[in-house]
Amino acid sequence: MVIVTQRKMAVPTSLIFPTLIIGAATFWILMKLMKRPQKCPPGPWGVPVFGCMPRFLFTNKRLRDVFKGWFYKYGPIYSLKMGSAYIVVLNNIESIHDAFTRPEFQDRPRLDFSLARKGEGVSISNGKVWQEQRKFVHQIFRNFGVGKASFEDAIVEETTFLTDALLQSDGKVVNIEHLLKSAVSNVISSVTIGQRFQYNDEYFQNVLAKIHDMLEHSMIASQLSLFLPFIKYIPFSSSAKIVDSMKTLINFHDKVTTEHKAKFDVENMKDIMDAYLFEIKKGNDVFNEDNMYWVINDLFIGSTDTITTTLMWVFLFLLNNPDVEKKVRAQLNEVVGRNRMPRYSDRPKLPLVEAIISESLRLGTMSALSLPHVAATDSELRGYDIPKGTLIIPNFHAMFTDESKWDEPEKFYPERFLDENGNYVKRDDFIPFGIGVVVSVSGSSLQGWRSSSSLHTYCKKCPSRFLTGVGCPQLKDSMV
Ligand code: HEM
Repeated sequence: MVIVTQRKMAVPTSLIFPTLIIGAATFWILMKLMKRPQKCPPGPWGVPVFGCMPRFLFTNKRLRDVFKGWFYKYGPIYSLKMGSAYIVVLNNIESIHDAFTRPEFQDRPRLDFSLARKGEGVSISNGKVWQEQRKFVHQIFRNFGVGKASFEDAIVEETTFLTDALLQSDGKVVNIEHLLKSAVSNVISSVTIGQRFQYNDEYFQNVLAKIHDMLEHSMIASQLSLFLPFIKYIPFSSSAKIVDSMKTLINFHDKVTTEHKAKFDVENMKDIMDAYLFEIKKGNDVFNEDNMYWVINDLFIGSTDTITTTLMWVFLFLLNNPDVEKKVRAQLNEVVGRNRMPRYSDRPKLPLVEAIISESLRLGTMSALSLPHVAATDSELRGYDIPKGTLIIPNFHAMFTDESKWDEPEKFYPERFLDENGNYVKRDDFIPFGIGVVVSVSGSSLQGWRSSSSLHTYCKKCPSRFLTGVGCPQLKDSMV
């Protein structure tokens, strides 16, 4: 017979005190990590260290839908913890307007991919550097380009190349993403560095691929490092991949800069890089080659995927709504005709084009959660305390699909932007490019212009025979 005796483990008295200290310290750290400010907006609870992050691991919902669900549950301003970051999400026009018209909410958090090269540019800079670079870029956009490098001419010229490329596919199924992305990048390339590239130019395609990689990684994991700062020390993390992708961009940029410096002529400035080199020569300390690198990069990165994706949405919505396609085709034929491209001055006479672009931006919501900002000081927003360092995220997706503001928000219905006389109606709560000072440098004009030219190309040259035999792509399969 086996007799089992239970033995009680006695904790030596010498260990009791250190155990208590460690326990208390761990408790204190956990409480500190989970603590929210005194008067904080309501919001979902998270677990210590990771906050709400695990919720995203155990759901097949898209991030934007989880954020929208919290809007319905907690109201227009809610807060959450993601790792070490405390985040306040703004879901209506009132709170977004209040926040982003105040200087304390205009700063940008530091993103890891800025480690790849010194300098700041527009989209990741703060303070004087941001103000001056932004003034420079705005000036150029207001003048629609620099010297001969006019946006309008570049768009019209590129649209002709795009049309030819589309027609070459005669009768075959084409994936327009590659062509559109190349065309959009060529427009920005023409005005920034005075060059366009063949759509099959391997070197340029590699640069575009790296821009895309960088965007993808910075969206996913470089932003993760905002929440888990230690992640950047993990080998093969996306921060490392971003830095790697950036090497190609840096080489490309350095080559172009050397050529521009060699040919610089103040009497004959050809593009944005020339205009920037001129600012450097004037001696303003925030204009230097590192910041120039980032400004040009910001323009490439800010435009390529945003405009390409918007155009893809426009085409997809039209393919799924042939009645709207028919009407816009008729409007473009009547106002512009078949022998020329639309010019900027045609815009007021093309309200349906404008409405289709707005509706595609609303329903496609290119910038669902926009770009994050950070509170520069301890402040207050609509009765809530916002401590310094809080990340502020505007939730455009929730705003643009809020059932209390939009009739049947999931439906593509461009007429919601038209009045009874068919004129375009601007809505104050529709701000796909941001608001106040923190608005995309493109403003709405350039992107609308780009879209209307491409739409015109499509309507003029590309009947729906593209779809013969393959059926129409379905929207439900495509919502990102
Ligand atoms: C469909 C087209 C576009 C959409 C929906 C869009 C949307 C946005 C949004 C929401 C922001 C963030 C504003 C904020 O700070 O809160 C932004 C910033 C920015 N966008 Fe765009 N954008 C578009 C096209 C473009 C184009 C064509 C360019 C350049 C040629 C561009 C360059 C930038 C830059 C440089 C920033 C950073 C501005 C700053 O931090 O001051 N974007 N964009």
